[in-house]
Amino acid sequence: MTAPFRLEPLSEVQDRSGFACGEEALDRYFQSQVTQDIRRHIANCFVAIDAATGALAGYYTIAATSIPTPDLPAEVTKRLPRYPSIPAVRIGRLAVDQKHQRRGLGAALLADAAQRTLDAPPAAYALVVDAKDDNASAFYQHHGFLRFASQPRTLFLPLATAAKILLGPA
Ligand SMILES: CC(C)(COP(=O)(O)OP(=O)(O)OC[C@H]1O[C@@H](n2cnc3c(N)ncnc32)[C@H](O)[C@@H]1OP(=O)(O)O)[C@@H](O)C(=O)NCCC(=O)NCCS
Repeated sequence: MTAPFRLEPLSEVQDRSGFACGEEALDRYFQSQVTQDIRRHIANCFVAIDAATGALAGYYTIAATSIPTPDLPAEVTKRLPRYPSIPAVRIGRLAVDQKHQRRGLGAALLADAAQRTLDAPPAAYALVVDAKDDNASAFYQHHGFLRFASQPRTLFLPLATAAKILLGPA
């Protein structure tokens, strides 16, 4: 990242009204719905704050999910127990304000999600994302996410791989 950002949980005091990532649905969700989801324990939201201005520069939401084991590729399941499903964490939404795109912040938000998931007491095998279009899918594949054969817009990244790709050597 070229500019200094703080990554922290979303709080009510931060002004979300000017956030604009170029995708209206992601802006609208962040401005009007995310706090309800947090209150209802449907999702948690973490934000990147531009340390110089205090403006919100990016956000992501995370929530518990599970992956039906048969959806995973055989080379993955052969190393897993034969449970019907595998625990995971879903990054429901991820967006960077247009003013801050292409400066490494999207990657930093992904790394933050991976680190928080690794640090959380409930175990998760992988991060899961739903890419809204081919561009988003390309962004996630650039970071090592793999597509499910049955749902090409849903991708996963085992936390063991995330630790190496996104977080680097300890
Ligand atoms: C997609 C998005 C989150 C990327 O954030 P960003 O801060 O611009 O991306 P970064 O600068 O962190 O990019 C990190 C790396 O990903 C690559 N990358 C970024 N966008 C990419 C894309 N669309 N396809 C392929 N690679 C991409 C960059 O080239 C960079 O590569 P490098 O580390 O090898 O130099 C941002 O563009 C955005 O908010 N878009 C609108 C909303 C959206 O599409 N969200 C996706 C969730 S559905």
